[in-house]
Amino acid sequence: MLSVAMGVTVMTIAVRAGTSPVAEPQQTAPPPASAWRNLQVMPELKTAPAQDLYDTMDFMAGSLGVSCDYCHRVGSFEMDVKATKTRARDMIRMMRAINDANFGGRTTVTCNTCHHGHATPSAMPSPWYRNADEIATYLRSLPPEIGATPRAPTPAAPAEPMPPPDTVLANYLKAVGGASLRSVKLTGTFTSEQVSGAIEYLALFPDHFQITRTINGNTSRQIFNRDHGWLTAPDARVPMPASDLVRLTQDVRMKFFLPPAGPTAGMTVTGIEAIDSRPCYVLSVDTPLGRERWYFDTQSWLLMKVRRETPTHLGTAVRETEWRDFRDAGGAKRPFKMLEHGMSNEVDTTFTSIDTNLAVDPATFEPPPPVEKPSVTLPAADLDAVSGRYELAPGNVLTITHEGAQLFLTQASGVKTEVLASSQTEFFLKNLGITLTVHKNASGEVTSLTLKQGTVTRECPRVK
Ligand code: HEC
Ligand code: HEC
Repeated sequence: MLSVAMGVTVMTIAVRAGTSPVAEPQQTAPPPASAWRNLQVMPELKTAPAQDLYDTMDFMAGSLGVSCDYCHRVGSFEMDVKATKTRARDMIRMMRAINDANFGGRTTVTCNTCHHGHATPSAMPSPWYRNADEIATYLRSLPPEIGATPRAPTPAAPAEPMPPPDTVLANYLKAVGGASLRSVKLTGTFTSEQVSGAIEYLALFPDHFQITRTINGNTSRQIFNRDHGWLTAPDARVPMPASDLVRLTQDVRMKFFLPPAGPTAGMTVTGIEAIDSRPCYVLSVDTPLGRERWYFDTQSWLLMKVRRETPTHLGTAVRETEWRDFRDAGGAKRPFKMLEHGMSNEVDTTFTSIDTNLAVDPATFEPPPPVEKPSVTLPAADLDAVSGRYELAPGNVLTITHEGAQLFLTQASGVKTEVLASSQTEFFLKNLGITLTVHKNASGEVTSLTLKQGTVTRECPRVK
């Protein structure tokens, strides 16, 4: 769930989710997939990795050209409060019935087949539906007596032999500095529809990476150290699950101009396509994240674009990363702009500096020490007093319980976390950077609590 694509999705969800403060640790340490509470037409997603659900949701959003909140009250994804969500369920059933009846159950007709990026599909074709090439091909296909004027046959494109993948990759690595590249640091800013902030990408090759984002003065980090990874924020330190690490490491390499790891045996150079009218070799490769196409400029060998096609439960989702504004930095041309387009989000990153072969201390990639905040043991009466249900957002209730001397907080998603006390009224969630302050009335009953994570604060009244 922590592919860099996910890094973006995590933010998107947190933000689109109206930044329900507890949403973040829940996503950084993904809930067991069984935490989904209201999957009626896709129950198979309950036992699949959580990322499958997000990819599938992204696919629907992209097909309709909408964001999550078109179907959801964000923060309470399980609730059925919008007619569009119910309608989407009907559509999933319809889509499956069409495919079962006509295409042997293969996912052939998808949301996008009809919707094409519009929430309400148009029954009327556009006169400009064909693009110029298609119109030209169509006209050429007409017999001369039907076509208005006879047309010269198109000259057959010279059959140019494609270079083998090894050659393309070797030339690319040479263009970016290849074997002499020991470290890279890219510093800049990113903006998306919902958030913007400062970003730093740091790599110590071959297998140490770090991404630091600062949003509204709040810094969070993804750290990769060979086969370990962590997500950190002030007072927070969450290990990445091993399955996420594989996906994410694959993805993060791309940000540092590294082609997919592994043997080139499965790779093919499928042809030449133009990007911004520059011809590019297209290298096709199957990765753990889906089928990818890497576009290398045939003149400079620089990487212009990576397109990834990820199978989801409803169809194939597409994500593209493009690089532009190549300038000299550290003895090679390097891109100062990176554009990422997902099915339901877009992130533009502008780099202000790209430094190579800086002295980078490997200790930078060591896990931060666990956050040791002193805690106190409260008498049972205090634990009883705070135990109860608190409303984080309409329909999104947090439950505090105690088992013996230990307090727990259970989120609406089912994720349960230990709560420690700093005092009778101050509590915290260890390593998640979340504090809770309880408020009492004159007779000593707890009436509400204030939940704080980073700069986000929520008042949560107690509910019955
Ligand atoms: C076109 C409508 C639509 C869009 C857009 C959409 N969803 Fe969904 N979502 C659904 C439907 C329908 C379900 C329930 C599926 C089922 O019943 O099996 C669902 C279920 C979910 C669930 C499971 C909640 C639970 O506990 O049952 C989550 C989480 C979720 N969506 C997140 C998202 C996110 C994040 C986005 C934006 C990237 C998104 N959705 C976009 C229609 C949508
Ligand atoms: C066979 C074509 C077809 C497919 C496939 C299809 N839809 Fe639709 N969908 C339509 C049409 C047509 C409408 C508009 C119906 C109307 O005008 O009342 C619609 C309407 C909707 C609406 C309501 C929008 C509104 O304007 O109120 C939602 C939400 C929706 N579709 C979601 C989906 C999702 C999600 C999928 C894929 C799981 C999907 N559709 C697949 C044809 C399709």
